[in-house]
Amino acid sequence: MRTPLIAGNWKMNGLRRDAEALARDVAAAVTASEGVEVLVCPPFVHLDAVGVVLADSGISLGAQNCADAGQGARTGEVAADMLVDMGATHVILGHSERREFYGEDDGLVAGRYRQALEAGLTPVLCVGETLSERDAGQTEAVVAGQIRGITDRLGADSLGPGVIAYEPVWAIGTGRTASAEQAQAMHAFIRAQLAGIEGESAASARRLLYGGSMKPGNAAELLAMDDVDGGLIGGASLDAGDFAAICAAATRD
Ligand code: 13P
Repeated sequence: MRTPLIAGNWKMNGLRRDAEALARDVAAAVTASEGVEVLVCPPFVHLDAVGVVLADSGISLGAQNCADAGQGARTGEVAADMLVDMGATHVILGHSERREFYGEDDGLVAGRYRQALEAGLTPVLCVGETLSERDAGQTEAVVAGQIRGITDRLGADSLGPGVIAYEPVWAIGTGRTASAEQAQAMHAFIRAQLAGIEGESAASARRLLYGGSMKPGNAAELLAMDDVDGGLIGGASLDAGDFAAICAAATRD
């Protein structure tokens, strides 16, 4: 049985006091439960402060990226072991905003993925098609390519404890969410791809998150789908009440 994971991607929002206040509000609003795992991913510079607030809350801490190399001459990057040192257990990798605005490609994401695993972090690998790719009928090829972008480079058994987040780019921050059926169809496709790469048993254990305008009003329907094992939440994760409502919708008794 896959325990649902609800992850908040705070993106590039908030000063330290805002991050601390949000973390306090999230810790107060989210009911700790064995039926759901909860993760928040603040900007790098707030990891330490948020980690202090979340200590003993049962809520996990993650970063939004990590370097593709160990410590050394990589100006502007943050090494995976530095994130572990801040108390992070997870790291988002390959987010479409990184791919779009910073030119990250599958090779770079694979290098980051390897470093995350070596440091003991659980990667949350983002995949998803743009609207023009969907309209051109390329959705499955794009998503399969992004997964193979990791496994072709690192090996068929290389995903480790990683989580895959399907985030259709056209649904991110647009208020336009994939329908539950669209999400389920892609999640089933991803699981079938994974089965072909890493085998049935690893694929059926792997958690697949949906991301893209998930809100309290649509979370229950999306999370009820067989292959949707949680959510990667952007905008709604900046509101503790909304985030807690999504966590509650994911809780399985
Ligand atoms: P929104 O929930 O704001 O659409 O963002 C989704 C996302 O990009 C999470 O990583």
